[in-house]
Amino acid sequence: MGIRELIEKKRDGRELSGDEIDYIIQGYVGGQIPDYQMSALLMAIFFRGMSEKETEEMTLSMAHSGEMLDLSAVKGCKADKHSTGGVGDKTTLVLAPMLAACGLTVAKMSGRGLGHTGGTIDKLESIPGFSTRLSMEQFTRQAGEIGLALTGQTENLVPADKKIYNLRDVTGTVEQMSLIASSIMSKKLASGADVILLDVKTGSGAFMKEESEAIELARQMTALGLAAGKETVAIVTDMDQPLGHAVGNALEVREAIAALHGEGPKDLMELCYVFGTYLLEVSGRVTDHEEARGMMENSIKSGAALQKFAQWVEAQGGDPAVAENTDLLPRASIVMDLITESSGFIEHIDCESIGRACERLGGGRSRKEDAIDLSVGVVLHKKVGDRLENGDVLATMHGNDLDSMKEAKDILFGACHLSRTPVEPGKLIRWVVSKNGIEKY
Ligand code: URA
Repeated sequence: MGIRELIEKKRDGRELSGDEIDYIIQGYVGGQIPDYQMSALLMAIFFRGMSEKETEEMTLSMAHSGEMLDLSAVKGCKADKHSTGGVGDKTTLVLAPMLAACGLTVAKMSGRGLGHTGGTIDKLESIPGFSTRLSMEQFTRQAGEIGLALTGQTENLVPADKKIYNLRDVTGTVEQMSLIASSIMSKKLASGADVILLDVKTGSGAFMKEESEAIELARQMTALGLAAGKETVAIVTDMDQPLGHAVGNALEVREAIAALHGEGPKDLMELCYVFGTYLLEVSGRVTDHEEARGMMENSIKSGAALQKFAQWVEAQGGDPAVAENTDLLPRASIVMDLITESSGFIEHIDCESIGRACERLGGGRSRKEDAIDLSVGVVLHKKVGDRLENGDVLATMHGNDLDSMKEAKDILFGACHLSRTPVEPGKLIRWVVSKNGIEKY
């Protein structure tokens, strides 16, 4: 069959075979299938969906479309962690050194921010000198030597996803569950780790606004990881308010370093402890849940995770002194408190708007990789459930341009909704999806 017949097949709701999917992926990456035909196919998939078998074939075909990273030279189990994207999500910056301090190697490729969500690579680039472009040789050597390496995605890793994602972005076909699952998991499988933890966000700041959709995405991705022989756990977590207090690249690094000093916000620390506990267990390093949790907590108390962070920064060309002195990070020239003029309990914080306010300040990056200002962002002093009195500081804005700060201020005030009666915040950790099935946390 040619591509036209395959588009018709999908349009009519019939299942594509593995060979047909390979033909499509290779043809598209190789330039024999033009964008207009691939767009039509993606739209057919958008409406018809893909079966589990098709999704698995698509994932494997995309994963093999470029280089498959071989981490076998690095001794022991290698762990990877992925978040589907959130606001204020600096978990990797804290979790990775904690795990490495507990003896589990973290070798991970990270992405830049997407839309209103931040990216780990942008955050790390706010550390003076830190290189996020390691060669594959450097990446594996460093992972072997210090148990921790993190780099941006290489050009040759899953080229099919790069090309298809760009097309989805402009054809209204991003929000299709099986396409999202295969896009994320193809990159995870090509990155060579043995154990994978997926943080699937749900809520106003997440791609999956509804919890039921997040559970389904978690289920599909876990199934793809397990089918490929990787120990995979997905945890569905709340993104109905930013994680921690800081949103913005350098501000988030500052908060992550505070967390490594034992002064992290409760929600961020809890995610790190829980994710780390699961990863230590599935990697086989520890069999007892309590022991794994104890190890994670101790990595902070003993200062071992902070030390590992400084070692990591130094290994990637950054100034390790940042671990003790966050004044080395870029700072915005204007710092402005947002004073509230009403009172009540914070009922809801629209995360996407918080992310958009940071973009307005100049700290967001679209897929086109515009230059961004790493110093800007927002520190929210109040979380859902907190009482707010007239005259309280709701947030502090860090910016370099008064006009954009005025716009961001309106967005920020509009993002926080108050209630007269006390509010119970949503549960931070909702569901765990693993080879044991879907369990309430
Ligand atoms: N992140 C990805 O990598 N791919 C998607 O399709 C959506 C989010």
